[in-house]
Amino acid sequence: MKLFDVYPLFDITPVRAQGSYLWDDKGEQYLDLYGGHAVISIGHTHPRYVKAITEQLGKIAFYSNSVQNPLQQQLAEELGRQSGYADHALFLCNSGAEANENALKLASFATGRKKVIAFKQSFHGRTSGAVAATDNPKIVSPFNAGHDIVFVPLNDAAAFEAAMSDEVAAVIIEGIQGVAGIRVPEDRFLQLLRRQCDAHGALLILDEVQSGYGRSGKFFSHQYAGIQADIITLAKGMGNGFPVGGVLISPGVRPCSGMLGTTFGGNYLACVACLAVLDVIAEEGLVENALETGSYLMEQLKKFPLLEQVRGRGLMIGFDVPESHQSLRKALLFKHRIFTGASGKQTIRLLPSLSLSKAEADRFLEVLQLELGS
Ligand SMILES: Cc1ncc(COP(=O)(O)O)c(C=O)c1O
Repeated sequence: MKLFDVYPLFDITPVRAQGSYLWDDKGEQYLDLYGGHAVISIGHTHPRYVKAITEQLGKIAFYSNSVQNPLQQQLAEELGRQSGYADHALFLCNSGAEANENALKLASFATGRKKVIAFKQSFHGRTSGAVAATDNPKIVSPFNAGHDIVFVPLNDAAAFEAAMSDEVAAVIIEGIQGVAGIRVPEDRFLQLLRRQCDAHGALLILDEVQSGYGRSGKFFSHQYAGIQADIITLAKGMGNGFPVGGVLISPGVRPCSGMLGTTFGGNYLACVACLAVLDVIAEEGLVENALETGSYLMEQLKKFPLLEQVRGRGLMIGFDVPESHQSLRKALLFKHRIFTGASGKQTIRLLPSLSLSKAEADRFLEVLQLELGS
């Protein structure tokens, strides 16, 4: 059987990883500034993480959500403590798209409405609901027509206010737009969304799948705006590679039996993986490191005259390269063995482990200097 061919792949086969590094099947070492799309939060194969999952695997890996699983409660408590959302409730699922799907569903349940406001160039995943709220011409959905979604330009207050009404169930926005090339919503724009959702009885959904879990230098990126969201969706860094997603739900949305459900969500392995991630984030000060190392990187990147619009927060950084240097990402990977992400032809995205050291950041800067000059 062949694999269904939907991914453009580099001809590189990683076989081992540790911290911010990967090794391929030929023994070549790579600096990982991409984290497989913002997934690696505490570093590859962190010993604490490996131990927690391995030990749990020897006890019990899975049973359905029909019996008590105290690890879920432990995770909810620790996540509430670290995120500042102790009063929200946690629903565990398996991916970012599934988290957003559940969030949109909850908003419809809670308001009895169908209309959703999303933002131009947003990406929320590939289930039919999540992809309907996604505005990307490359990501095709035959289902979009079935959903009542209005797309508004990011940071356009007038367009947003014109679209808002008492028919809106939810406004869904990424903490920082990732796939679109690192586009940061203005604090006052998020504050406007919060006020307007309150005024119209709509729910504010913050998709922190990519920008959450400390990546921005705060636990959630929207916390820079000093607002609280009704629903927050999580995945990626939450499990450091173990597939898991989560929905944080405000006390205003009341649960009832059968409202949401999943077979695998909240399984024992996912819970211990997530708990190990939170322990390491707290013990190693990784939110603080993301802020410090990210700010340093951004400051240094801004000194390269050839790099345009260096932007982002913490260790979620994007910059544009001029047309003359569009082969930069390939040179970084194949000549200097550094993984980065891309958005379109011109934007490079950096989404490294939150434990990235200054020395690792400096190595990247030295390579950029070689490729671009100063
Ligand atoms: C902001 C955002 N939301 C949702 C998703 C979908 O997550 P998943 O691929 O885990 O379904 C992604 C994935 O890139 C994302 O960046």
